[in-house]
Amino acid sequence: MGWSDTWNDIISGGNPRWKVTNTDAHEKALAIFKQYVGGDPKDTSIFVPLAGDDPMVKILFDNGYSLTTIDLVPAAVEEMKKQFGSEADWTKEEKDNTIIWSHESGRVKLMIGDVLQRRPELENNFDAVYDKDSFGALQKDMRKGYCTRISEYVKSGGTVYLECKLRDNHEESKHMGPPFSLLAEDIMDETSYGNSFEHVKALGAVYDISMPMQQTGHILRRK
Ligand SMILES: C[S@@+](CC[C@H](N)C(=O)[O-])C[C@H]1O[C@@H](n2cnc3c(N)ncnc32)[C@H](O)[C@@H]1O
Repeated sequence: MGWSDTWNDIISGGNPRWKVTNTDAHEKALAIFKQYVGGDPKDTSIFVPLAGDDPMVKILFDNGYSLTTIDLVPAAVEEMKKQFGSEADWTKEEKDNTIIWSHESGRVKLMIGDVLQRRPELENNFDAVYDKDSFGALQKDMRKGYCTRISEYVKSGGTVYLECKLRDNHEESKHMGPPFSLLAEDIMDETSYGNSFEHVKALGAVYDISMPMQQTGHILRRK
């Protein structure tokens, strides 16, 4: 099933898959994000790759941050837009195979496009990345291109907050996905985030999920 069919299934009431809607989980993630990203939210720009309709985007916006998200599937971005209220608050622009929805606050841009496409206008733009189940959703041969794009967009010293799955039988199951089971060594491989980022902390399980695996967190810093 491709991503578009997956979203059609989710939206029509199918299995919610990776979606986290629990307030307690969001509060835990937000507290960790704030602790490691630091700084004043009003001066902090966040890139959210493979954002889907993650409610954390609206929560980070409500906490004062500026955000740019990207997802391939228009229906997912529509679900994200709804969380911000009125349709009238958004303006649409289209360029370079990408649709960009800009919020009237001036603090949110929702892009519909391929994360692997080079986007020079995003280079060196972001203080932080919120990567929840994004790296872990990519086929392995996409990791290098993805991490190259992220390294281009994040300022030196910028922070990646990453959440990913970890299975009990990691060694036997790590080649199966998505979602892929990931340890720091997988994320920090030279063909992945390791090329341009340092691993700052393995956070362990960040909150409980209703799946037979853990939702683990990692903090990385742009070299
Ligand atoms: C596992 S979901 C995670 C969504 C979100 N981060 C969350 O946790 O709620 C992966 C998302 O990546 C999107 N996606 C997959 N491949 C993509 C690509 N090449 N470029 C942009 N988005 C992509 C899918 O449409 C899907 O919404």
